[in-house]
Amino acid sequence: MIPLRQPTMRRSEEPEVGTLEPMPPEIALAAEGVEVQYRARHGRGSVRAVDGVDLQVRRGETVGIVGESGSGKSTLGRALVGLERRQGGRIVVDGAEVPPDGALARAQRLDLQMIFQDPFSSLNPRRRLGDAVAQAVRARDGDVPEGRVAELLQQVGLDPHIAHRYPHEASGGQLQRVVIARVLATRPKLIVADEPVSALDVSVQAQVLNLFADLCEELSLTTVFISHDLAVVRHIADRIAVMYLGRIVETAPAEQLIAAPRHPYTEALLTAVPGAGRERILLQGDPPDPSAPPSGCRFRTRCGRATELCAEQEPLLEAAEDGHAFACHHPVEAASPAVLAAP
Ligand SMILES: Nc1ncnc2c1ncn2[C@@H]1O[C@H](COP(=O)(O)OP(=O)(O)O)[C@@H](O)[C@H]1O
Ligand code: SF4
Ligand SMILES: [Mg+2]
Repeated sequence: MIPLRQPTMRRSEEPEVGTLEPMPPEIALAAEGVEVQYRARHGRGSVRAVDGVDLQVRRGETVGIVGESGSGKSTLGRALVGLERRQGGRIVVDGAEVPPDGALARAQRLDLQMIFQDPFSSLNPRRRLGDAVAQAVRARDGDVPEGRVAELLQQVGLDPHIAHRYPHEASGGQLQRVVIARVLATRPKLIVADEPVSALDVSVQAQVLNLFADLCEELSLTTVFISHDLAVVRHIADRIAVMYLGRIVETAPAEQLIAAPRHPYTEALLTAVPGAGRERILLQGDPPDPSAPPSGCRFRTRCGRATELCAEQEPLLEAAEDGHAFACHHPVEAASPAVLAAP
């Protein structure tokens, strides 16, 4: 595990250039100090939607990002693929800098692929599904070899005959599979999937999720998988990062995060997962207004463990053992090895 740097230490006092080098070759994505601000929708000021996020993803790894609505997951995801203008931080994918203004070269645009919640919005309504896939093949390879589109459609579990249909003639699940086929056609270096099954019928969510998980595994895809639902993320991710009000508050290998969360917010999210075998901790109220986050620890207004220290000092994201890091002054007790070993 590469040591995590601490978001509150960074900001202006450290140089922005050169801090990510040298990156070990197994790291496909390295992001450091990522900041994205929006003008606040109501009133003045700005919303720090992503406020100093560090993230690394190894080649072939799937990292899950989880957190309540509004925690900045989608904004971070879009920033990682260059779809969001950043105010700070660096993002490097496979050695290439993702420019902060989102001005990506054509090849880099193909390298960085995003899958959105609503597949219909990703597809041209006037283009047949087969042509949509062919277009992606052509964009990467220059031409479309005979049978390649059918092969890709089969790879995502579709009957190649669907190639003749238009988007409105297919179901949401089928369309999301077509979107995945298009992404595969570009042989991306990084895929960001933002709630890719949340908009689908409940009856097909698991199928599309399983398909995507299998493809990530078989093709060693480097993926950032975003969801508000820890039960979904745990199903697919090798590692999980938990976001709260624009920051990562805990990250660990998926099994470890589920078995022994250390941040009270992660623990609360986890107790909401059906069958987690934990007594439910109800999160009080909604997250605070991100344009005016609480002093000290941002979670303190909803945290049962909060003390004065939490109001005064922001906890830093500190690495503990085995790639587990959390930002909390009074963390949940580490589970004993016996508990961790239990099935
Ligand atoms: N285009 C925008 N303009 C202003 N505020 C935005 C915009 N997009 C997102 N936000 C705000 O940024 C914060 C993070 O949003 P988002 O990244 O969509 O979170 P999530 O995906 O975790 O639900 C929220 O407070 C949201 O209201
Ligand atoms: S730092 Fe304090 S308020 Fe924040 S999560 Fe830890 S105990 Fe709770
Ligand atoms: Mg979102």
